[in-house]
Amino acid sequence: MSTMPPPISDQPVLKLLNVESAYGPIKAIRGVSLQVHRSEIATVLGSNGAGKTTILKTISGIIDPRKGSIEFKGEDITAQDPARIVQQGLSHVPEGREVFPLLSVRDNLLMGAYTRTDRDGVARDLEAVYRYFPILGERTHQDAGLLSGGQQQMLAISRALMANPDLILLDEPSLGLSPKLTKEIFEIVVRINRERGTTILLVEQNANMALNASDYGYVLENGRIVMEDTCAHLREKDDIKEFYLGMKEHGVRGERRWKKKKNWR
Ligand SMILES: Nc1ncnc2c1ncn2[C@@H]1O[C@H](COP(=O)(O)OP(=O)(O)OP(=O)(O)O)[C@@H](O)[C@H]1O
Ligand SMILES: [Mg+2]
Repeated sequence: MSTMPPPISDQPVLKLLNVESAYGPIKAIRGVSLQVHRSEIATVLGSNGAGKTTILKTISGIIDPRKGSIEFKGEDITAQDPARIVQQGLSHVPEGREVFPLLSVRDNLLMGAYTRTDRDGVARDLEAVYRYFPILGERTHQDAGLLSGGQQQMLAISRALMANPDLILLDEPSLGLSPKLTKEIFEIVVRINRERGTTILLVEQNANMALNASDYGYVLENGRIVMEDTCAHLREKDDIKEFYLGMKEHGVRGERRWKKKKNWR
């Protein structure tokens, strides 16, 4: 009966509609539509070269899409300047961490807060980061380049937090890390989400970790979303178990196909 629009809190924080991005002639993502809701962790699962990193780079403005649109907190941010997108409350933790190796841990963290003017808030967030990752507090004056891979991943996540974002894009945090360290980092990512209400879009090859940590999931193959559901449902699907969770021994290589999503487009 009501003609009122849904309240702001029910609208997705992030909304991609038919986004296509390419590198020259190579189409990396081919009409991706997805939504991330406030305070949830959403994940995009996909194997090597599926287009996960390209999706995140397109959202944060590093790559301009050929087609489609991206909305963040109800505003169109398609192909906007990356620095402005950060200011609007969207932080990107890139694949391979990319910390500043010759700056101290502390200075790396402060770089994440460079657009902020609320000194008290920055000081509070610095303390919060050291509580989540005590090792960063211990190493605060050390050059970031001397940290281990896992510690650099912690620093990259923390640097994103220092911008006090509404949404964090997290590109394959498990890359190159031991299962134990990956588990630790995922646990803290979930804590950050629960305690601070930070919305997270995580892309991963590690389906097991990602499905356990996230609320809602998308499966990406060859640049297309081929399946989406709650992670609780995805974990129970046979083809997910077979191809992504490795629970079946002989998945035939080359037959890694998903049934197309029915409501595709
Ligand atoms: N700079 C680039 N120039 C040309 N092609 C690229 C470039 N970056 C990515 N591609 C291609 O675009 C496609 C998607 O790549 P993308 O990096 O988004 O995949 P991904 O899912 O993040 O993979 P991975 O799990 O290995 O990180 C791949 O076919 C890749 O080869
Ligand atoms: Mg990638």
